[in-house]
Amino acid sequence: MDMGRVIAVSGKGGAGKTLLAALLVRKLVKTGHKSILAIDADPDSNLPDALGVFVESTIGDIREEFSVEQSRLPPGYSKDAWLESKVFEIMVETPSFDVLVMGRPEGPGCYCAVNHILRKIIDSMTGGYDYAIIDAEAGLEHLSRRTTQNVDDMIVVTNGSLSGFNTAERIKNLANELRIKFKHLYLVVNRANSSHEKLILKRVGSIGLEFAGGIPEDANVAEYNLLGKSLLELPDDSPAVKAMDEIMEKLSMQGGK
Ligand SMILES: Nc1ncnc2c1ncn2[C@@H]1O[C@H](COP(=O)(O)OP(=O)(O)OP(=O)(O)O)[C@@H](O)[C@H]1O
Ligand SMILES: [Mg+2]
Repeated sequence: MDMGRVIAVSGKGGAGKTLLAALLVRKLVKTGHKSILAIDADPDSNLPDALGVFVESTIGDIREEFSVEQSRLPPGYSKDAWLESKVFEIMVETPSFDVLVMGRPEGPGCYCAVNHILRKIIDSMTGGYDYAIIDAEAGLEHLSRRTTQNVDDMIVVTNGSLSGFNTAERIKNLANELRIKFKHLYLVVNRANSSHEKLILKRVGSIGLEFAGGIPEDANVAEYNLLGKSLLELPDDSPAVKAMDEIMEKLSMQGGK
């Protein structure tokens, strides 16, 4: 079975993860793809807004509900089936893509078994799409939380600063430590100054990442954000949208798989 391609977007807080995730979904939709799952794995969720979608409940809500309902489930009733039906319930469908929001991670109380089942359900669901795009939480924790352990490609977004590159390097090292294998580990530089390209390429090479391109400052992106407008509606000639053509090519995503 063709498992589709799972792409996670990570990086420091405010680096442009949600922007890149939304622009990836936009490009896929515009090139006619219909089997796309967008996963917001940031507890401080904002991907649905960027995609112009309203999502009422999260995987975190299911976990809470389960802890209350568990004792009331009829004997012999399968936990897995209950959880799976809940995951389908909270998923929001649009004509061209579906959206799933992870919400708050597990609290101090131990819900390990539930988390394990939910993880399996989400992984198997993700595999059913041609493309799954994950907007990860800022930093590195997503790797140990397993939200990004089963991804094909990891894209780290940085603003071109030293600390952004350091985050990228730590993601690479932690993935190695946890024996997580990405097919590709890409770097995208957001809001970069094009005159710094040589310096950036040198740094990218020394970390051992694949450079997938840059996204320029785009006044429309800032305006849409302030107005709460979907980034899917950005005009085709908007600078950030135009920059995606080169990025899609580097990711080998032009015109489909
Ligand atoms: N290229 C750009 N041009 C203009 N504004 C941008 C650009 N990239 C990001 N922004 C703005 O910067 C802010 C942060 O971007 P974004 O939400 O994509 O980052 P993030 O990494 O997802 O942040 P967080 O860690 O808070 O989830 C947003 O208000 C966004 O509109
Ligand atoms: Mg974000």
